[in-house]
Amino acid sequence: MQAKLKVSRFDPETMGQGQRRWDEFELDVHPSATVLDALIQIREEVDGTLSLRCACRASICGSCGMRVNGDAKLVCKTRIVDTFKDGETIVVEPMGNQAIIKDLVVSLDPFFDKVRQVDPYLQPDAEPDQGEFVASNDSMVNLLTAMNCIMCGACVSDCTVLEVDEAFIGPAALAKAWRFVEDPRDDQRDERLKELNDVEGGIWDCTRCFKCVEVCPKDVAPMDRIMEMRDMAIEAGNTNTPGYRHTESFNKSVKKHGRLDEARLAVESAGYTNVPRLIDLAEIGIRSTLKGKMPPIVPHKADDKEKITRIFERVESERK
Ligand code: FES
Repeated sequence: MQAKLKVSRFDPETMGQGQRRWDEFELDVHPSATVLDALIQIREEVDGTLSLRCACRASICGSCGMRVNGDAKLVCKTRIVDTFKDGETIVVEPMGNQAIIKDLVVSLDPFFDKVRQVDPYLQPDAEPDQGEFVASNDSMVNLLTAMNCIMCGACVSDCTVLEVDEAFIGPAALAKAWRFVEDPRDDQRDERLKELNDVEGGIWDCTRCFKCVEVCPKDVAPMDRIMEMRDMAIEAGNTNTPGYRHTESFNKSVKKHGRLDEARLAVESAGYTNVPRLIDLAEIGIRSTLKGKMPPIVPHKADDKEKITRIFERVESERK
């Protein structure tokens, strides 16, 4: 079977970060070959300088994360015949949002720094009276979602928030945090939630783009774990954040008007006592008004506003 690959190359000795060149290869590969098999074939038969990282070749170790035709994947799990049409060029790049060391190898130092930031270990207040801590089967089944993470970095690679905000803790580390927040043997649940709620780049910085859910090869669904921690943080009384106020304001305006009151949303998210942010917003408001983009001060109401309000009331009564 023929395979065409276009591979991103980076040599730190002759190029600066951000530079790259593309090399194209045409190979005769086995019909069941994966993208990793093809890359190893290139390294062994065509160009011995091609650098890539892999170990288990069985989607267990998480070391072969790369971008293939734009999306992060484990290349040892990506069979050419299943993924690409006959003759289609397979474009292989290093993972995104991480500095490139050489060719397809990225530095995972920032990734693990962020994992360490969430204290990824159990913190019980006391030793068990005897033997070891025992967790129920149900609680372990619950934890399995996040424990399936193999730390490949695919979610971090394609995270749209990390693309613009390096401070964001990121989907992998936050999924790891969820794993300890949910563990019944841990006694730091409230402290963990408060920290994740308050810290810059914490749970409120996710924009719910779903990209981490889409690319995770182990169905960890980091975004779902982050949303669960938002609910837990609110239930634990952490409500003094722009993220919480944004959620409340959004709900309130849609319930009342059937539509979003954008002007009020911005002010209420900032908080009425946050003077520096309100001054920023005033400047944005003036610029928006001059360009004719200012949202109406008195919000428009949806035609079927009563219907939307009834949906809210029904959901709220079901929650009680
Ligand atoms: Fe181990 Fe791909 S080589 S996950």
